[in-house]
Amino acid sequence: MMKLIIDTDPGIDDAMAIFYAAAAPEISLLGLTTIFGNVTTEIATRNALRLLEAADLQVPVAEGARVPLSLPPFKPSAQVHGAQGFGDIPAAEPKGAPLAEEAADFLIRMAREHKGELVLCPIGPLTNIALAIQRDPEFVKNLKRIVIMGGSLEEGGNITPHAEANIYHDPDAADVVFGSGAELVMVGLDVTHQILCTKADFTAIAAQSPELGGMLQSMSEFYLRFYETVGKFDGCSLHDPAAVIACSHPQLFQVKKLPIRVSCSGETSGETLMAEKGSRGDTSVCLGVDAKAVKTLFLERLALLP
Ligand code: BDR
Ligand code: CA
Repeated sequence: MMKLIIDTDPGIDDAMAIFYAAAAPEISLLGLTTIFGNVTTEIATRNALRLLEAADLQVPVAEGARVPLSLPPFKPSAQVHGAQGFGDIPAAEPKGAPLAEEAADFLIRMAREHKGELVLCPIGPLTNIALAIQRDPEFVKNLKRIVIMGGSLEEGGNITPHAEANIYHDPDAADVVFGSGAELVMVGLDVTHQILCTKADFTAIAAQSPELGGMLQSMSEFYLRFYETVGKFDGCSLHDPAAVIACSHPQLFQVKKLPIRVSCSGETSGETLMAEKGSRGDTSVCLGVDAKAVKTLFLERLALLP
């Protein structure tokens, strides 16, 4: 079993990724850490708890940073995920509460306790991961790998012409992570823009999994409407599920090993760029994907849920 922690800003495709992880037989989910991005950190924590309770998963949630490393706080992307993060689904209070321990410290502790075995999958801005790297020099050595949903090498951006949203919201943190020497995989727009789900796919998910699939189907209506306004896709991108699938099924992705750096200011802020060879460790950048296989896995696994 692969030991996994997801760092998340739920978020509609985050919900899809977390339910996928709940369904996948080869994944042992050890916890969630939360971050701002699609919503505020406070709402992300509430939503993470709600998703775990819906999926009947008894794992901890550790609340993360409320602001980027050095950029000022920003307004979340309500036009993509809705004001409360789950599209038209209204806010609701979870029964449980987050840990008293903050996300970066929880990550440091879990990496130490599961030395060499823990895969970390950040699917929001990288602030918590950068804080853990800055606080503990052993942190990246204790991890097995970090599989990042974020960035774009050849595809252009989705929040600006240059930047992908997760990297854009804390480029300084992303640059710390890409320069950390950890074993890194970047699952960016180069591949996630190829993995699309349509309204018909979500109708099928809801038919097979009325409870949790039904919840995703309700959320997806809002997300699909946003994608219609973008105009260039037939359906919505499975950004965050793709990163979780890359953790367990790396063979479905073609990678190029390159050193990556992040533009941290000006018009290109948040752009992921090739760094000078040898200036930092390589990242396995996903540039190709068997999109059909990833989507099939996603649909088949979600069908296992109630
Ligand atoms: C990423 O940004 C967020 O809107 C999504 O949840 C995903 O993590 C895609 O750019
Ligand atoms: Ca996300």
